[in-house]
Amino acid sequence: MGLAPLCIDKTWWVSTLPAIVKANNLVDGFLLFSIFMAVLLAGSFTWALSPGGLAWKNGRNRLGEVPVPGPRGFPFFGSLFSLTHGLAHRTLACMASKQAATNLMAFSLGSTPAVITSDPQIAREILTSPHFANRPIKATAKKLMFSRAIGFAPDGTYWRLLRRVSSTHLFAPKRIAAHEKSRQLDCGSLLCAIAKEQSSNGIVVLRKHLQAAALNNIMVTVFGKRYDLCQGADDEAKELQEIVREGFEILGAFNWSDYLPWLSYFYDPFRLNERCSVLVPRVKKLLNQIIEQHRLNQSSKVADSSDFVSVLLSLDGDDKLNEEDMEAVLWEMIFRGTDTTALLTEWIMAELVLNPEIQSKLHQELVVAVGDKSVTDADVANLHYLQAVVKETLRLHPPGPLLSWARISTSDVQLSNGMVVPSDTTAMVNMWAITHDPNVWEEPLVFRPERFVKCLGGAEVDVRGGDLRLAPFGAGRRVCPGKNLGLVTVGLWVAKLVQHFKWVQDLANPVDLTEQLKLSCEMKNPLRAMAIPRNSILRRREDWEKNK
Ligand code: HEM
Repeated sequence: MGLAPLCIDKTWWVSTLPAIVKANNLVDGFLLFSIFMAVLLAGSFTWALSPGGLAWKNGRNRLGEVPVPGPRGFPFFGSLFSLTHGLAHRTLACMASKQAATNLMAFSLGSTPAVITSDPQIAREILTSPHFANRPIKATAKKLMFSRAIGFAPDGTYWRLLRRVSSTHLFAPKRIAAHEKSRQLDCGSLLCAIAKEQSSNGIVVLRKHLQAAALNNIMVTVFGKRYDLCQGADDEAKELQEIVREGFEILGAFNWSDYLPWLSYFYDPFRLNERCSVLVPRVKKLLNQIIEQHRLNQSSKVADSSDFVSVLLSLDGDDKLNEEDMEAVLWEMIFRGTDTTALLTEWIMAELVLNPEIQSKLHQELVVAVGDKSVTDADVANLHYLQAVVKETLRLHPPGPLLSWARISTSDVQLSNGMVVPSDTTAMVNMWAITHDPNVWEEPLVFRPERFVKCLGGAEVDVRGGDLRLAPFGAGRRVCPGKNLGLVTVGLWVAKLVQHFKWVQDLANPVDLTEQLKLSCEMKNPLRAMAIPRNSILRRREDWEKNK
């Protein structure tokens, strides 16, 4: 016999509750006060009994044999303030060690349950698990079209297509090699701009030169265009610089409503919604212009040296991307590619200024291996001390100390330490904590590239995601696809900067390694140092300029 559907009166409590608490109606002051106190008490009780905070209520942290430990944080907010104040990677590392939860720590970001690990083994399990192949997406990233870009597209057919296109076309080794000529040109402009500033000011503020070189490097790779960003930039170049800067500010700003969705209706202190609505049409206009120009000049076959727009336009069949998806992918490339390479180079140069004996060793390696000739990508690959300097900087100053963007679990995931991460939990890896852990690295605070030089007894560490003791590019299926391009670019820049100039600390402006965490972790006070031209090279450049 089938059961007839029950008709439930959902308003029963309006008449029953006053009777229970002996009040005349629901607006009775005492009744309201009682309800408020009951809710508060229940909330406090749940909070007090939920390690990890409110987002971990109902025993979410006890699904495995071993419960996931963590701080309760504040009611409603959980541990949200750990992300808003100071340097999140340091605060979270400190919290994890206080809670004896470096293996895995549960915490609440408003209503979002999160875990973070500071352990290489658990980091590997999280980053390489297919159940952590998605990322939570911020509201601003969604508004700025990133949900269709590689970094935020959910694991599925579309994302796999983008990864395939990026590994077989965009970041294929032959394409990176074919763009060497343009990297050399960017380096030439970089060196000239530095020499000019040094001779007129007696000191160089390196960041703006690196940012201009990085933007041009990525613009040539992505759009096949080079701009003169230093002197009298044209309108398109100015617009490009401005939209990139605004995009960085919007994405780097802390958006409370990502964690407390109800706040979005009345609290938006940085006017993020409004700024996104203004920025998106500007980005689309610029990208459309560039795509249209490519369409007009497109030849049927793409070469190894073709830019990303040409490659994307040449895709057909199932691989073909529609206009909006193409815009999203290209826009993301500009974003990810610009900031990271420039700021990593700035950290490297800051360490070389602070450690003149290491800078001398690097220069010596260049003199022996390259002499006065122009450094090439092939040289960079064989300069072992240079590679060690880059690795040591990635260890001490990982550009994404929390690996930039988190992952999210798509089902309950059992870890080897007996803990279970429930489905729909945001998962982070504190790469900074791992690379500063004395149990993982001897004297972790000391800048010593020798630890990576094999013939000096150093460790051979694959920074491309194979060794979780140092994985600044992440690992697993969502590992950074631009890692080889990033490493080649940074290696070439540093080699040329040291080959052409001796970098000396200006005592009036001592190097300050204080960090600032925005979209990436950068030097709070940009590096200012004296770039003393090394004579033989300088003479060669003067000759070159005379003969130009
Ligand atoms: C020093 C340079 C760079 C560093 C330190 C860096 C770091 C990272 C990190 C930590 C991730 C997250 C990986 C994960 O979740 O496991 C990532 C993802 C990504 N990076 Fe990079 N990156 C660099 C350069 C670049 C460049 C030059 C590009 C492109 C032009 C790029 C494009 C991307 C993209 C598209 C993703 C998202 C991948 C996905 O979710 O499938 N990166 N990067």
